[in-house]
Amino acid sequence: MLHKLLHLAVIMDGNGRWATERNLPRSEGHLKGIDPVKMLIRRAVQHPDIQFLTLFVYSLENLKRPLQETQYIQDLLINCLQSDLEELEQERVFVRIIGDVAGIDLPVRYVSNPKLVVNLCFRYSGRWHISNIVNRLLAQNQPCTPDSIQSMMVADLGPDPDVIIRTGNEMRLSNFLLWNLAYSELFFLPVLWPDFSESHFDQVVTSYLKRHRRYGTLGVDDG
Ligand code: FPP
Repeated sequence: MLHKLLHLAVIMDGNGRWATERNLPRSEGHLKGIDPVKMLIRRAVQHPDIQFLTLFVYSLENLKRPLQETQYIQDLLINCLQSDLEELEQERVFVRIIGDVAGIDLPVRYVSNPKLVVNLCFRYSGRWHISNIVNRLLAQNQPCTPDSIQSMMVADLGPDPDVIIRTGNEMRLSNFLLWNLAYSELFFLPVLWPDFSESHFDQVVTSYLKRHRRYGTLGVDDG
């Protein structure tokens, strides 16, 4: 059955190792990691089906790293938003931040009728997001059911990702979109994030289209 790629999620792993392999400080790996982010946004905008791109920028667990690294990533994020938001708006790309960011001044700019929504998950974890939604439902006196939680997830992030890519040769989800990845197609790539290229993107898209998605039901060939 033909299935489209509407939502792509990415765990961008391997910046630190990329830098260490070159005897550079880890911050250089994070800086270099901006290039594939820009490439991916460009490719997603050009793609006929992709409407949502969700990127794991920094987890709540990453906050246990040295303060210097945490501050560096936050400053990098703010600088990127300040320098690129205007151009992204012209391209009809709406960038929004998802995470525990109360009290942090992050520049955002609402874009109506976007071609692409980019969710930057910053100070984010899957368990935090589920409990945040449950608390919002309770505060509104609404029942917590799979459907009510799902509709808030869709409002926050868009429909469940069709594909999740993790780079960096690690095969785990690291508390990313725990609710949303129930039926996503998983791709674990041995490439370090700063080396993620257009050809990696193309290979994933081609391979995804060949997969059979059954969502727990039986496929036509299953007898
Ligand atoms: C994982 O590599 C990467 C991060 C924790 C940060 C991701 C940030 C970027 C790609 C750049 C910033 C992005 C934006 C949109 C501003 P790691 O440090 O865990 O690598 P390692 O596993 O090799 O140590």
